[in-house]
Amino acid sequence: MSFLEEIQRRRTFGIISHPDAGKTTLTEKLLLFGGAIQEAGAVKNNKIKKGATSDFMEIERQRGISVATSVLAFNYKGKKINILDTPGHKDFAEDTFRTLTAVDSVIVVIDVAKGVEEQTKKLVEVCRMRRIPIIVFINKLDREGKDAFDLLDEVEQKLGLRVTPLSFPIGMGYDFKGIYNIYEKKINILSDNHKQTVSEGVEFTDISVPELDEIIGENAANILREELELITEVYPKFNKDAYLNGDLQPVFFGSALNNFGVKELLDCFIEIAPSPQPKKSEERLVDSKEEKLTGFVFKIHANMDPNHRNRLAFVKIVSGTFKRNAPYLHVRLNKKMKFSSPNAFFAEKKQIVDESFPGDIVGLQDTGNFKIGDTLTEGELLNFKGIPNFSPEHFRYVNNADPLKSKQLHKGLDQLMDEGVAQLFTLDLNGRKIIGTVGALQYEVIQYRLEHEYGAKCSYENLPVHKACWVEPEDVKSDEFKEFKRVKQRYLAKDKQGQLVFLADSAFTIQMTQSKYPTVKLHFTSEFK
Ligand code: G4P
Repeated sequence: MSFLEEIQRRRTFGIISHPDAGKTTLTEKLLLFGGAIQEAGAVKNNKIKKGATSDFMEIERQRGISVATSVLAFNYKGKKINILDTPGHKDFAEDTFRTLTAVDSVIVVIDVAKGVEEQTKKLVEVCRMRRIPIIVFINKLDREGKDAFDLLDEVEQKLGLRVTPLSFPIGMGYDFKGIYNIYEKKINILSDNHKQTVSEGVEFTDISVPELDEIIGENAANILREELELITEVYPKFNKDAYLNGDLQPVFFGSALNNFGVKELLDCFIEIAPSPQPKKSEERLVDSKEEKLTGFVFKIHANMDPNHRNRLAFVKIVSGTFKRNAPYLHVRLNKKMKFSSPNAFFAEKKQIVDESFPGDIVGLQDTGNFKIGDTLTEGELLNFKGIPNFSPEHFRYVNNADPLKSKQLHKGLDQLMDEGVAQLFTLDLNGRKIIGTVGALQYEVIQYRLEHEYGAKCSYENLPVHKACWVEPEDVKSDEFKEFKRVKQRYLAKDKQGQLVFLADSAFTIQMTQSKYPTVKLHFTSEFK
């Protein structure tokens, strides 16, 4: 297969949802279609679930939430599908945001009864800002839920999307009969035996024919006809370019648990979803078809084996072919590196590969060279954009709870921060360390991992900080900036990159500070230039 064909057959995407909407179940069903897992039936088997979520971390098993982001790949109808799994839990939102820098499209899963939920809103907003093509999957149609048209309205209003249904449910909950596949003009009927199997689709280019009444009953047939008429009148016709530009979002209905409507989704997905897209670097736009390798680290996973403190850096290949044992430039360190055992991900396994292509994710064994956002090239000085730090929501002082292990504590904190678990700030005044996180849960994760992976103990002390603001003075020598630094001395810190940060205790303080020192700009993200 040629290099271009390899690129064109790749589909790298993420599934995002509010927890419990059915992301894991949908992922499993997609893997089943790809033949990547064999477990039959619609019952969720824990073994598959573990594989599907690839929960490498012990803590995740303890808590039963998807802490880690993982990669699952399979082949389907000649296409190579890479699913980048994202934690739905809000405390790990930053992990998910980072993963979204590595996807070419997303599928959003929404629970038919709950509709649009908080976490979905936040994640879709990020996708919209980046114009990532979005497909919506409305799940759990086997249960009573909201009216399909009301849901479409809700998705438009709450998520700010412009939708067009490509499939439509026939009935819902107890009366759920099947799906009309608008994209392929086919009907799929749920069979009666526990509603778990699907009939082979019956084609209906003309839904006015009486056969439709015979198959789903006169009443349901009439309702479907009316609904489809309404859809044609109200919603824009599907247009692939509009979808690819992020201007139109197709919607599918189904039940992941019953494996219903999933094949329609997948078949349409592989046709319309984008192959690897060009990516912006600080220097230039990099096209996936360029022959020289470029890629960036979007995720670092530690603790694959608690006995060895090795880490796995997940690199998204943007262009070129990644070859085993070839020398690549680690741009930030200006260091040539070779990788003798790059991992590729297949279903729930990982294996060593000789070659990987744009859109693929390779896992590189790392002993501490990588940070989130690092770029690899064949020599060009490139830095991929788009993995900024956002202001954390929670702040605590971190104290060493075992004076004999201070080296271990520093090393542990250093590495955990490189993985992007949290952010570390050092107070200018006294050098005290502060950990900032998106959710309170991370503090427990950090404590647990410091103890189990580094043999260090820490304790925390609350700190009433509202937001970390990255400081950008117009003129570092100005009197205004000097005055700002003098007055705010107690609240100034450095982030891990050495950038100056102002730890503000309230939104009011930020407002006041900004009006008092207008030439000293305050930003909520570390990437403001
Ligand atoms: P998540 O990854 O988005 O958090 O959701 P997950 O797939 O784990 O699904 C959450 C719950 O919803 C699970 O039930 C799952 O079985 C159920 N579910 C998923 N899809 C459907 C569907 O199409 N119909 C119905 N009725 N339920 C669905 P659980 O009881 O929390 O877990 P489990 O005991 O089934 O593992």
